[in-house]
Amino acid sequence: MLEQITILGGLDKSGHPEKIQRIEAAAGEVLAVAGPTGSGKTQLISDIEQHAEYETLTGRRVLINNQLVNKSKDKRHLRYLIAQVSQNMNFVIDMSIEEFLTMHAQVRSIHDPGNTIMKVLEITNHLSGEPVTFSTNLTQLSGGQSRALMVADVALISNAPVVLIDEIENAGIDRLQALEILTGQGKIVLVVSHDPTLMLMAEQRIIMKNGGMEKVCRTTQEERKVLADLTRVEKKMAGLRDYLRKGYSIGQDTDLND
Ligand SMILES: Nc1ncnc2c1ncn2[C@@H]1O[C@H](COP(=O)(O)OP(=O)(O)OP(=O)(O)O)[C@@H](O)[C@H]1O
Ligand SMILES: [Mg+2]
Repeated sequence: MLEQITILGGLDKSGHPEKIQRIEAAAGEVLAVAGPTGSGKTQLISDIEQHAEYETLTGRRVLINNQLVNKSKDKRHLRYLIAQVSQNMNFVIDMSIEEFLTMHAQVRSIHDPGNTIMKVLEITNHLSGEPVTFSTNLTQLSGGQSRALMVADVALISNAPVVLIDEIENAGIDRLQALEILTGQGKIVLVVSHDPTLMLMAEQRIIMKNGGMEKVCRTTQEERKVLADLTRVEKKMAGLRDYLRKGYSIGQDTDLND
């Protein structure tokens, strides 16, 4: 059972100790990771993914339920708790979506593989718009379609209690929906984002600077109100995006609310 992960600080790019030396996330929490480009967000996600124990560039350590997991063999099972949706997703394996999902479902000992992979396909198409089929080859997928498949796969097949998401906003998919699909009950989700809506959806946000964890902010009541406004605007934007990219013109074709 996953209860919490802990990140113990290391060094920033200049070799100075990070300002933040300890971050804890409990089951059910969403954390955002923010900061300028090149400030070390992806590196932080990758430290967690690798269960860093001093050996990465940053010298950080990552504990699961207060334990280091890499070194001791009997704790290796804890390593399968983490799934990642990465920033530059592209499949290079030459196989169909069906073969890939069936294989993954087998590895993960999914109880009802046929039904599960069907749902994965449904969610993929729901997120990406331009539908794919079971026989579509992985190498034919666009960036957004790959990302949508990854999100659905992580949600239903990996079904890991820790989910790491690197910049979902550039994926051309509905990111609020994707986040909703990924933040299941009791999961710890870390989401790298340049976007205020996603930052405020998290309980805490880690601010990165010069490769180090510089500050941690908890989302305030005031910020939650701002989030409610942003979400309304966001939904309207999503509706408009969908409408315009289907080729409709505002005021000329069918009503926007149809
Ligand atoms: N503490 C550190 N010590 C040394 N190198 C670091 C440290 N943190 C990050 N780096 C390196 O700095 C570079 C930029 O970091 P990273 O890719 O994580 O930035 P980013 O915040 O994800 O940027 P973007 O927003 O453009 O995706 C990488 O090569 C990374 O390995
Ligand atoms: Mg990055």
